[in-house]
Amino acid sequence: MEFPAQLSAYIARVDTGIESLLPAPVSTGPRGPARIHTAMRYSLQAGGKRLRPVLVLAAADLFSGTGAKPSRSAVAALPAAVAIECLHTYSLIHDDLPGMDNDDLRRGRPTAHKQFDEATAILAGDALLTHAFALLATHYREPPALGLALIGDLAAAAGSQQLIGGQMEDMLAEKTAPTNAQLEFIHANKTAAMIRTALTLGGRIGGARDEELVRLGLAGEELGVAFQIIDDILDATADTATLGKTAGKDLTAGKATFVGLHGLEKSRQFAQAHTAAALAALQGLPGDKSFLTGLIASMASRTK
Ligand code: IPE
Ligand code: IPE
Ligand code: MG
Ligand code: MG
Ligand code: MG
Repeated sequence: MEFPAQLSAYIARVDTGIESLLPAPVSTGPRGPARIHTAMRYSLQAGGKRLRPVLVLAAADLFSGTGAKPSRSAVAALPAAVAIECLHTYSLIHDDLPGMDNDDLRRGRPTAHKQFDEATAILAGDALLTHAFALLATHYREPPALGLALIGDLAAAAGSQQLIGGQMEDMLAEKTAPTNAQLEFIHANKTAAMIRTALTLGGRIGGARDEELVRLGLAGEELGVAFQIIDDILDATADTATLGKTAGKDLTAGKATFVGLHGLEKSRQFAQAHTAAALAALQGLPGDKSFLTGLIASMASRTK
């Protein structure tokens, strides 16, 4: 199968997983549809690139399957893929809140707090974050060491030393003149931590050995930093309709970005160097790496 068809097949599986692994909005009963479940699905089912869940499935496949043909481990990886997309979507809902980036548009739709209200958006984010861990605890009971490792990995990446820590520093760096070290910390944590963890969760489920997990982690780290640099470039160069989120906001908000610190041309070079490092880290892993290689390359040339 060619890369675009493989990617579509992976995304279709993620979407099916989301449909079946999220609580259904209750459409009967005295209170009608449950607002919280409607709000959770609203943000999750708006789409998006599904990069992180596809990385989970593809990393699992690397160790036990071929391409997008569902292997046993890829089927087993689906709840973890949905879990990481829940967690990512929560981070977007909260990132968009008026007290943070104050954005009105996400994934081509009004942001959760615009569509519902602020309280509902906060609670939908909280619920998606919690649901991510419930999925891991429920679906990876055997062997117990696997479930605990997945939960530990995701908790570390999502916590105050990584994703949240990066988001905190991102907020603190607004309208300041950040150093390169600060900027690298922000990118590595607010964004790369979750992308790295997508690959290592998949690897763990597929049965990767410790040294293979290290390689996957390194590839994810590099891909993640490249991904955020390109997000910064697109914020400065693409239009709102293409992005499905408001373009040009980083400059207005005085965000610490690669483009702000280094300019467009150097930022493109940095993104290329991190992409090359991600591809290099993949070499030495077993299995057919062509899909993951194609995915990393496609992220480097993305336009949204
Ligand atoms: C947006 O992530 C936030 C960043 C880390 C840049 P994505 O660009 O992956 O957003 P979706 O999931 O495709 O909507
Ligand atoms: C957000 O980075 C990263 C998250 C952890 C959500 P941005 O603030 O640049 O993401 P966008 O541009 O709003 O998607
Ligand atoms: Mg932000
Ligand atoms: Mg933002
Ligand atoms: Mg951005």
